[in-house]
Amino acid sequence: MSEISFKDKVVIVTGAGGGLGKHYCLEFAKKGAKVVVNDLGGSLKGEGGNAKAADDVVDEIRAAGGIAVGDYNNVLDGDKIVETAVKNFGTVHVIINNAGILRDAQFKKMEEKDFKLVIDVHLNGAYKVTKAAWPYFRKQKYGRVINTASPAGLYGNFGQANYSAAKLGLVGFAETLAKEGESYNIKANSIAPLARSRMTEKVLPPPILEKLGAEKVAPLVLYLSSDANDLNGQIFEVAAGFFSQIRWERSGGILFKPDETYTAEAVAKRFDEIMDFDDSKKPELLKNQHPFMLNNYQDLIAAAKQLPSNDLSGAPT
Ligand code: NAI
Repeated sequence: MSEISFKDKVVIVTGAGGGLGKHYCLEFAKKGAKVVVNDLGGSLKGEGGNAKAADDVVDEIRAAGGIAVGDYNNVLDGDKIVETAVKNFGTVHVIINNAGILRDAQFKKMEEKDFKLVIDVHLNGAYKVTKAAWPYFRKQKYGRVINTASPAGLYGNFGQANYSAAKLGLVGFAETLAKEGESYNIKANSIAPLARSRMTEKVLPPPILEKLGAEKVAPLVLYLSSDANDLNGQIFEVAAGFFSQIRWERSGGILFKPDETYTAEAVAKRFDEIMDFDDSKKPELLKNQHPFMLNNYQDLIAAAKQLPSNDLSGAPT
């Protein structure tokens, strides 16, 4: 395989004033990228702000001979971050949706503002940045999006209902971007990392933290962001030198006959069969449903296409 290069590529990394994002920026710059280092420089809970976080990373990149510019906008003003890229470098090719905060609390005690703010920063922030970049991606027929999910989103985690919801939301978001972007050479994938940062330094013991350097996550992020990557809509779990893919698995399931009436009790009676994974499939497309569902789905798509208000021209048939 030839060397991965980001020469002539413009990369936005959000939340890049520290932790994982900072490391990505340094690596992208080493490989020739023009980097927008975004960070509003707030606390772990998302309070306050300070330009120094982004500026320090920009200084480090420039001191090493790289190209970078700082951006201090909230990801919720994603259009302004993309504006920074366009104003300085003419366009954007890669977005790493990485900015994040924590407002952990047991669900019974979690306040609505803490639920909403976490969804806002992670999910709506990623939406705003990606939405602003999308026209550039389509026009230049090139775009790479990496959404930062989390094992807490894939599996759930005590005290993180807000964070888990946002993180799995990012996975679904990337899955659909992948489908809509494919014909424009836009690839959107998700990573679920574990790394040493201010997010984990108080929850994991030092011997484990020692193994969790951000440099062990960056190689995957750079690969997925590069020309070399052809994967789209996938999810990867990465930490401490471990790289793996996560995918959905559907059990063989049961199918009641269309003319059969079935009750809650009838479903309950066959629950072992419903949960039997011996004959499982690994679905990636909505249309790869059970044949019965497929017919139904295609009928619905065909009907929806007749509606003047729906632009589903790119939808699978
Ligand atoms: P971090 O706290 O060092 O980095 C997050 C950065 O986002 C901070 O520099 C912060 O100032 C910035 N930020 C927060 N709100 C922002 C906003 N509204 N606009 C712009 N920037 C904002 O933590 P870390 O660990 O580097 O996290 C990076 C990403 O990785 C986050 O999305 C996090 O949820 C995710 N992640 C991290 C894991 C870990 O083990 N460290 C595990 C799973 C996911």
